[in-house]
Amino acid sequence: MDDYKPLELAKGIYWVGVVDWNLRDFHGYETPKGGTYNAYLVVDEKIALIDTVKAPFAGEMLKRISRIVDPSKIDYVISNHVEMDHSSSISSIMEIAPGAKLFASSKGQNGLSEYYKDEGFDKWDIQVVGTGDELSLGKKTLMFIEATMLHWPDSMQTYVKEDDILFSNDAFGQHLATSKRFDDEVDDVMEDAGIYYANILMPFGTQILKYVEKLKELDVSPAMIAPAHGLIWRRDVSRVIEEYVKWANGNSLPKLLVIYDTMWGSTEKMAMEIVEGARASGVEVRLRHLRKNDWSLTMKELMDSSVIAIGSPTMNNNMFFTTAGFLTYMKGLRPKGKKYFLFGSYGWGGGAVKGMEKEIESAKFELAMESMQVKFRPYEDDKKACRDIGYKLGEIAKENAKS
Ligand code: FEO
Repeated sequence: MDDYKPLELAKGIYWVGVVDWNLRDFHGYETPKGGTYNAYLVVDEKIALIDTVKAPFAGEMLKRISRIVDPSKIDYVISNHVEMDHSSSISSIMEIAPGAKLFASSKGQNGLSEYYKDEGFDKWDIQVVGTGDELSLGKKTLMFIEATMLHWPDSMQTYVKEDDILFSNDAFGQHLATSKRFDDEVDDVMEDAGIYYANILMPFGTQILKYVEKLKELDVSPAMIAPAHGLIWRRDVSRVIEEYVKWANGNSLPKLLVIYDTMWGSTEKMAMEIVEGARASGVEVRLRHLRKNDWSLTMKELMDSSVIAIGSPTMNNNMFFTTAGFLTYMKGLRPKGKKYFLFGSYGWGGGAVKGMEKEIESAKFELAMESMQVKFRPYEDDKKACRDIGYKLGEIAKENAKS
């Protein structure tokens, strides 16, 4: 049996990563399809390992490397990003290959020194590199590209010049566990890339646009993009860069997203009537109950939508706890160019709509329509008002869409 066989992407360049089939929560972000941690080995006169994997999987990565070379012969370890899913096996590698030299960005070096001070950092031979710096492996040359805030200050990428392969670390990734390794072998990879973008990279649109310009200045036009998560792009390389530019610019569809939670069904009835009204306007409308849908997938729906309606019942004089949690999560991801509408229900004192209004102020969304709230439950006139609002929101969604 040919177990732990590494995959050769190009002559002398191998995927030596791992598939995390049971990953369902990536630091709080739901990953219903699992994930991967991708590491790559470049074998030339010198041997370089580009990134590592999450520590519990170090042994599996080493098995794959051992199928190609003796891991103690690794000359260089490239740490493109200090976050633990990529760096927490570095100490295992450095124990096996103590003579290996480590390369990282300046902030990467600082981060590694903080994270791994009790795992031998002081003994590691580390060299700081920046954009345009090169490392010759013999016939192949690694060029480093700082990718600041894609998505951490230390983030860096590595380009193999002779093969036109860009090792992009977190950028262009997807959380997707599969035995396949290339984008042309699996359906809907762009949707998974969008979900990943919405939850990891969306706050950094400005930096992404600058980064894409920098690639052009450096004359980097990859034939293959090999990210640190998910599938390797070899068919849709240009398309995924174009999609990143669109997402970074805050593009959206003529689409209304209605997000809500409910206690005794009143806010839910309002949400359903809003959907019905919006449907009549002809726009696409999606409804997402906050306790019945993964928030990571809802964030992708939100990124694609031009208008967002958010509904909450009142609980203890404030919005429902899931609504508060979702608003906090959403604001952190800084979606651009959205218009919003708030609605909700209450029994006596109210508070949900007021709480949401206060919370959404800092999201820098534009008000689409004044908020609406009902006492106890929506009667026929309230339902009609919700349908009318839904229709108007649909019309606003058409006007506010950006392509
Ligand atoms: Fe995949 Fe920022 O770690």
